Amino acid sequence: MGLWLSSWMLLLCIASSMSPSSAAPANPSTFSSFKDNFNIMWAEDHFKTSPDGQVWYLYLDKKTGCGFQTRQRYRFGWFSMKLKFVGGDSAGVVTAYYMCSDLGAGPDRDELDFEFLGNRTGQPYTIQTNVYKSGLGGREMRHMLWFDPTEDFHTYSILWNNHHIVFFVDRVPIRVHKNTDKPNNFFPNEKPMYMFSSIWNADDWATRGGLEKTDWKNAPFVSSYKDFHADGCQWKDPFPACVSTTTENWWDQYEAWSLPDSQLEDFSWVGRNLVIYDYCKDYERYPVLPEECNL
Ligand SMILES: *[C@@H]1O[C@H](CO)[C@@H](O)[C@H](O)[C@H]1NC(C)=O
Repeated sequence: MGLWLSSWMLLLCIASSMSPSSAAPANPSTFSSFKDNFNIMWAEDHFKTSPDGQVWYLYLDKKTGCGFQTRQRYRFGWFSMKLKFVGGDSAGVVTAYYMCSDLGAGPDRDELDFEFLGNRTGQPYTIQTNVYKSGLGGREMRHMLWFDPTEDFHTYSILWNNHHIVFFVDRVPIRVHKNTDKPNNFFPNEKPMYMFSSIWNADDWATRGGLEKTDWKNAPFVSSYKDFHADGCQWKDPFPACVSTTTENWWDQYEAWSLPDSQLEDFSWVGRNLVIYDYCKDYERYPVLPEECNL
């Protein structure tokens, strides 16, 4: 533990002393005002902002959780936000932060998910990612984090172009989902997506497969948000816009089609040390692995 932690610190120092990599947004547009850019989806009274409007809080109690979404849809780009999670005993509580083509859980939706699964006091949070295409998912991965996500804000981002989808934590790529370019590929690239976040009770499955129940004595559970950046192509109906071939968008350019060497090292470190579950290694579930697992 001590050893890998310190080698991780070393990696981090190296990474932070380097100039911004190609996957860094060139000119992120910061959303300053919540109301201009987001809608509250449900339970408005469980949503609060800091006095200066820069930090947003989602509350979960026994009655309900709540959630918000962007007003706009995007197709391809870099999407990023800082989040901080419920501390203490948060078993059963899930904070989801995701992109989805649909406002409901429509049967044909495309989706890119980050889900943060709470835990008993002192036990680590787990981060689950998943990809859906046309309503079909089953592409879960679970990771441990290398820090306590309840102590501070950390940045969680998605890079999406027609070549791959990369999930980042503090600029460290933790998951790469590649486009096989085959006819029936499992790669959501057609539908524009909103970005969402919500907090809810999932004690039927989230912590130790549902064995650990939410302890409502600790309610309300609060997730905090700030610094949303969307550096992507904003979709405007009905034009078939936002094709991933335009050269002016950094996220579509050749450098963003694969991880640069500097990120590959971190990515393989994460792969060796932090993966708890990978559907691409679950031969019981997939006797024949999905095609994208072979890339
Ligand atoms: C909770 O903590 C246990 C014990 O450390 C760990 O095995 C588990 O992956 C953690 N996360 C969840 C969501 O259960």
